[in-house]
Amino acid sequence: MDIGIDRISFYTSNYFVDLKTLASARSVEADKYYVGIGQEKMGIPPPDEDVVTLGASAAWPLKRDGELDDVELLLFATESGIDQSKAAGIYVHGLLEMSPRCRTVELKQACYSATAGLQLAIGFVARNPGKKALVIASDIARYELGSPGEATQGCGAVAMVVSANPRLVAIDPECGYYTEDVMDFWRPNYRSEALVDGKYSTMVYIHALIESWRQYAALTGRSLAGFDRFCYHIPFTKMAEKAHEKLCRKFNEPLDSERVRILLDESLRYSRITGNCYTGSMYVGLASLLDTAREDLAGKRIGFYSYGSGCVGEFFSGTVQPGYRDFCCAEAHHNLLANRAELTYQQYEDIFNYGVPTDGGEYVFPQYKTGPFRFSGISQHKREYESLME
Ligand code: HMG
Repeated sequence: MDIGIDRISFYTSNYFVDLKTLASARSVEADKYYVGIGQEKMGIPPPDEDVVTLGASAAWPLKRDGELDDVELLLFATESGIDQSKAAGIYVHGLLEMSPRCRTVELKQACYSATAGLQLAIGFVARNPGKKALVIASDIARYELGSPGEATQGCGAVAMVVSANPRLVAIDPECGYYTEDVMDFWRPNYRSEALVDGKYSTMVYIHALIESWRQYAALTGRSLAGFDRFCYHIPFTKMAEKAHEKLCRKFNEPLDSERVRILLDESLRYSRITGNCYTGSMYVGLASLLDTAREDLAGKRIGFYSYGSGCVGEFFSGTVQPGYRDFCCAEAHHNLLANRAELTYQQYEDIFNYGVPTDGGEYVFPQYKTGPFRFSGISQHKREYESLME
């Protein structure tokens, strides 16, 4: 029985900053961002979006289409958690009015945890073939103003239904995975911005890739030439391209820039204009690939590399299913990305500095443009959410 990703829906904030605007404010050449790291825009969440509203908004089209009716497992992957005890997924479960017969839990391991979620969901479906799992990856990437990581900020969520006989991508059983205790990127509980050893993090990302691939190749006997496309974790698009080049060089796989373009480019289109979505990032890449590839990808094998700082890396693969285009949300994704509002530098800084109050007071948040749900305020230490659906 094939098991894998049956539906995928992506959501990001309705606001962005063009990196030319940031470059001008930081007195650097725009090409450092546009060319050097391969990023053009960063998605910025207004004060009334958080990981719950991003995640619920990503899952909403699937709920509307009746795709969540048989879901009995909801895994919410994030590293931008809003509570030390209650899983963000339970708020989403409530907003989407899902069945009480559902296991719900939050998963954490930096950007990797959505892949842990996908693999756990596959195990659940193997045991309960008539049932489905919903994996939501939702994050807000924040670095200090003026820091090297600032231009890689972004936000977004991906909601994936995992089922038997999936209509998008059947996931292969073999995986290579690698854990090592390193401090390349982390966020202590008392900080709202990540700390990062930037250059070191890029080296660990590649080291974990090489080790994960080595295992995967030994298990499957496949070579890098046996893949039609790759989806990498995308902290910034240049990272994915460089990682693939390094992997090919290490394992003597011939590669030129045209081949890199064919293998990776479609998967990088959305991330180039949303920024890092942490847990969702590689799956934003998958949505981008399935939505925008001109070639019919049915029957094509995709290689996936998921990475979370700290660190865990995993290489796995999947095969695109016949008729997949009928089940993509390409038009909705296109409209979302095309209709965002651009922020001035000052508006960006004001939103950045707004912060979620932590003094335990009563707050009502200003209404910005959001998706179907908004984070409306805090009362009696409880987050309050509003559904904007009629
Ligand atoms: P930096 O040090 O300011 O950048 O930030 P740089 O000076 O290395 O420049 C970047 C590139 O732009 C260089 O190219 C420059 O030559 C080029 P490279 O040498 O790398 O090929 N450049 C230009 N190109 C064209 N025209 C110009 C120009 N000027 C310069 N005018 C750094 C880079 C990665 C350190 C920073 O972005 C950062 O700290 N990012 C955050 C950390 C990160 O994303 N790490 C990636 C791996 S770890 C990961 O993926 C996990 C993560 O998602 C978190 C999680 O797991 O939860 C982050």
